[in-house]
Amino acid sequence: MSRTEWPEDVAGEIRRRVLAEPGFMKVTQVVRRGGGTFRVSLRPVVIKGEKGYQGEMTEEGRTQVKNFDLEGARSGLEEMLGQTGPRELHLVTASGDLHVRVTKKGKFLESRSSPMARDVDEQQGHDRVKRQPLTDFDSAALLKALGIADADGRIRASMRGKYDQVNEFLKVIDAAIADKPEKTLNIVDCGCGRAYLTLAVYFYLTAVRGFEVRVCGIDRKADVIATARRLAADLDVAEHVVFVEGELAESEPPFEADMVLSLHACDTATDEALARGMEWKCRYLICAPCCQHELHKTLKEGGPMQAVLRHGILRERLADLLTDTFRAQLLRILGFRVQIVEFVSAEATARNILLRAEFCVKPGQQAAVSDYLELRDFWNVTPWLETRMARLTGKYLSKY
Ligand SMILES: C[S@@+](CC[C@H](N)C(=O)[O-])C[C@H]1O[C@@H](n2cnc3c(N)ncnc32)[C@H](O)[C@@H]1O
Repeated sequence: MSRTEWPEDVAGEIRRRVLAEPGFMKVTQVVRRGGGTFRVSLRPVVIKGEKGYQGEMTEEGRTQVKNFDLEGARSGLEEMLGQTGPRELHLVTASGDLHVRVTKKGKFLESRSSPMARDVDEQQGHDRVKRQPLTDFDSAALLKALGIADADGRIRASMRGKYDQVNEFLKVIDAAIADKPEKTLNIVDCGCGRAYLTLAVYFYLTAVRGFEVRVCGIDRKADVIATARRLAADLDVAEHVVFVEGELAESEPPFEADMVLSLHACDTATDEALARGMEWKCRYLICAPCCQHELHKTLKEGGPMQAVLRHGILRERLADLLTDTFRAQLLRILGFRVQIVEFVSAEATARNILLRAEFCVKPGQQAAVSDYLELRDFWNVTPWLETRMARLTGKYLSKY
């Protein structure tokens, strides 16, 4: 590993932009050392009404956070600039990003992006920008390739909803995995479409969390798979982000999956994503369902709920709620801890419910089974996922 001094003009620019530029948002450096990574970042914060800085250091899965005044931030930045070995520094400011990669041979490779449209966090003052996963690393090339940002790096108005959905989905994934996995994390994006989430999750987890990641997007549409493959090749990640064209029920990723994602996979495709995730023995299932027609068609007229079912819109909403409740309850029966959250604002999408599940409980708990059966028998329906998962759920449901 060679020792490398920063070129004076680049180091000077970093000092000025971090310590004096009003639009400074974050500087992060990832140093590769003996098979692991050492990650350090500095960002502005307001502490008790005073402007300050917060530093964060992560090594071997342990994170330390410390607050600094200007002088403390200055010496922290000097320490960061004094690090040696192959490394990447990413500076994010309102006037644009600076990304510097220092190769094993000590070569400095710089790239810059134009200002991105970023959300200001009002509570933190005008120069404090709301932290978003897609602003935590140099995402300019990714966002432009996906068509989320225009040629100048600004988020297109028509893509703002998708940008917000992907950011918020990434936050859920980020929170689900507390520590760096010991092995490569294998993720499947079911019903990946044009691969907005598929590519974003790869870049986020590798660049920001320093994980080894492989991602496989599956979709039945040949044209979107062709586009997704081209994007992965253009972004130089085709080795780690692959795509399979086919039905979810019949497709296999080229690895043992740890996590299944789906963002608005239509109707029963969300159930199929959950079913595949369970069959692949994934630890994490994170799915934001889309339109749901199945239960809507089978809810029977009459009985005490007739006053609700008579109204088309209420019937539809009730079917949506029940579908997600049945899904969550079946996952609980099969050993998952489940949370249902609104992952993004309703302006970004009306389909803003998300199920996040982690396999960490003994399957077949009596309370989970009886809650499920009571609800199912009240409505006198058989949810699609129950039939699909009959091989696994059968032994628990038939016991009671
Ligand atoms: C609404 S799009 C969402 C795409 C992407 N996840 C996103 O958020 O931009 C749903 C995608 O799921 C795919 N899909 C739906 N059912 C599927 C199935 N059974 N097998 C494979 N793909 C499916 C569709 O082809 C479509 O591309």
